[in-house]
Amino acid sequence: MTRLGLIGLGTWGKNLLRNFSNLPECEVLVCCDQKKEQLEKIQNIYPKFKFVQNYKEVLKDKDVDAVVIATPPDSHFEIAYQAISFEKDVFVEKPMVLKIEEGEKLLRVAKDKKRILMVGHIMEYHSAVLKLKEYVKGGELGDVYYLYATRVNLGKVRDIENALWSFAPHDISMILFLLGEEPKTVTATGQCYLQKKKGIEDVAFLTLHFDDGVMAHIHVSWLDPHKERKLTIVGNKKMAVFDDMRSAEKIWIYDKGVDTKLDYNTYGEYLSLRFGDILIPKIDSSEPLKAECQHFIQCVNDRNTPRSDGEDGLRILKVLEAAQRSLEKGGTPEEIKS
Ligand SMILES: NC(=O)c1ccc[n+]([C@@H]2O[C@H](COP(=O)([O-])OP(=O)(O)OC[C@H]3O[C@@H](n4cnc5c(N)ncnc54)[C@H](O)[C@@H]3O)[C@@H](O)[C@H]2O)c1
Repeated sequence: MTRLGLIGLGTWGKNLLRNFSNLPECEVLVCCDQKKEQLEKIQNIYPKFKFVQNYKEVLKDKDVDAVVIATPPDSHFEIAYQAISFEKDVFVEKPMVLKIEEGEKLLRVAKDKKRILMVGHIMEYHSAVLKLKEYVKGGELGDVYYLYATRVNLGKVRDIENALWSFAPHDISMILFLLGEEPKTVTATGQCYLQKKKGIEDVAFLTLHFDDGVMAHIHVSWLDPHKERKLTIVGNKKMAVFDDMRSAEKIWIYDKGVDTKLDYNTYGEYLSLRFGDILIPKIDSSEPLKAECQHFIQCVNDRNTPRSDGEDGLRILKVLEAAQRSLEKGGTPEEIKS
C-alpha cells in the first residue's frame, strides 16, 4: 500500500486528492497547502487526513512513500528535488519545471536515488488519445501529413507562467506521444494583453516541424470566447478529429482524402476527392485523471518507469523552452535541443 502526501491543494490539487483518495491501492496520509483557508476547505470533506502548511513536514514524514505536487510551476523544481532527496517517489504536475537545467538535475537525482518521477501529462492517459494512437500506429490514417490542436477558453488567467507554459504542455505531450517522435524546430508567436507589464502572454500560436515535413500547429489562449479542446489529424488515407468538449463520440474518423490516378488525360482527372464513411469508435468514458493516478501508483508499487516519466517531462520542456525563445524573438524558427 503506497502512502501519499499531497502538496498544493488549489484548483487542480483538489481533483488529484479526490482521485487518489478513491484508489484502493494507496492511502492519502497528509495534505499540505501553504494557505490555511485552502486546507480548511477540504478538512471538512476528509477529516481523517493530517493537514500541514509547510511542505517540508510532508517530506520529513517517514510514513510517506510518495508525494504529489500540484503547486504553481515556479515551485515544482525545489519541492520535487527535495522530495526525491528525502527518498520519496514523485508525481509532479505539468510543466515539470521551468528550466532545462532544472529538469536535467531532477532526472539525475531521481536516477541516483532510484525514485519514480512522473509528470502530469494527462493527455497521455486519455482513452481517446490512446485510441488515436492505435489508429496512427496501425496505419489507419496512412502517413500523417499534419495536425492542429486548439486549447482555448476564458480564464483562468495565471500570473506566473504564460498561456504557452500553462496550456501547451498538454498538446505538445499529446502530439509527441501520438507521433512517437520529437520535433526538430518550433516557431511561436503570441501577445500579452492583460498583463503587459509582467510580460505574460495570454495567447500563443506555435508550429512544430518534424522530419519528412510533418507539421503540428497549436493554438492556446485563456482570452477567448470559446471553450475548445480539439485535435485534427490529417493523414494521406484518412483524417481524424478528437473533440474533448463532447461528452460522448469524442473521435470521428473521416474516410476523406484526395486520391491520385495513374491513368489520366486532364489535371482534373489526376486528383479526385474522396468522401467516404465516417466512423465514430466507442471509447472508454472513464476520467483520464483517474487513469493517470492509477498509473502512478502502479509504477510506484511495481517499480516501473511511468509513461510520462522525467524523460518525457524533459522532452516537453525542450519544446517549451525553444517556443519561448521564438516567442520572444517575434516568431523565428528555433531548434529544439535533442
Ligand atoms: N493536468 C491538468 O489538467 C492541470 C489542470 C490545472 C492545473 N494543472 C497544474 O497544477 C498545478 C497547480 O495549478 P492550480 O490551478 O491548482 O493552481 P492554484 O493556484 O489553484 O493552486 C496552487 C496551490 O498551491 C499552494 N502552494 C503554492 N506554493 C506552495 C508551497 N510552497 N507549499 C504548499 N502549498 C503551496 C497554493 O496555496 C495553492 O493553493 C500547476 O502546475 C498547473 O499547471 C494541471
